[in-house]
Amino acid sequence: MMICKTEAEVALMKESATLVSKTITEVAKVLKSGMTTLELDKLCAEFVKDHGAIPSFLNYRGYPHNICASVNDVVVHGFPDNEPLKEGDIVSIDMGVILNGWHGDHAYTFIIGDAADEAIKLVRVTKESLYKGVEKAIVNNRVGDIAYAIQEHTEIKNGYGVVRELVGHGLGKSLHEDPQVPNYGKRGTGTKLKENLVLAIEPMINLGSRDVYTDTDGWTVRTRDGKPSVHFEHDICVKKSQALILSDYSIIEAAEKANSNLNTSYY
Ligand code: MF3
Ligand code: CO
Repeated sequence: MMICKTEAEVALMKESATLVSKTITEVAKVLKSGMTTLELDKLCAEFVKDHGAIPSFLNYRGYPHNICASVNDVVVHGFPDNEPLKEGDIVSIDMGVILNGWHGDHAYTFIIGDAADEAIKLVRVTKESLYKGVEKAIVNNRVGDIAYAIQEHTEIKNGYGVVRELVGHGLGKSLHEDPQVPNYGKRGTGTKLKENLVLAIEPMINLGSRDVYTDTDGWTVRTRDGKPSVHFEHDICVKKSQALILSDYSIIEAAEKANSNLNTSYY
């Protein structure tokens, strides 16, 4: 069942999404080689709790951490660990919160220091594809229009692998609501979008083949070919002429550009 929100609820969901953006901004300020993703997990959980919210991933279907930290060949749902990050790592940070009963859930991918040109381009194109999808999130379009826009930019135009097993989703009082939002599909097909439907749109794009597998930990999704994968996620609200983006990359990007340990050469 698709649940459209009231204007007041959308305003609350913007607060939830923005709190995630502020949390990822804290990561953008300190991220560098030598740090561990468990340190980031702790920082994020404390920041969220200090702001009166609950980290929503912890214990969700048994997920054992506060954030997902997906490095290089990890597509999504990577466990934070004690492994120091290193130059050239591609790090996706995905975080969810519950604030005033409403979920925020979004993700951003950082590049630490010097990285391979092909990995840097993958980050740029995946972020671009997110916005191509968001552009289609308007009233009377269909889920397939968002899906195709992402697939067209990544798979068709750039030859990347679009992960099929994981999808975006509706968001609200629950972390996952209808409809599912795949990153591949046919224009003009699928659920018709209504005003004030809130969606998490989240391209997961592989440099090589689209094939993935889940580690023995039951969560960590990796590329079969071991090549890097990139993940960006925005929370958006469907509107008549232009989607309203509830999460805020501008504060993350400002911190990212100010951190000389991060690679922002694709801007
Ligand atoms: N952004 C992911 C999703 O929407 C994060 C879920 S991780 C989990 O599915 F731990 F909460 F499952
Ligand atoms: Co999500």
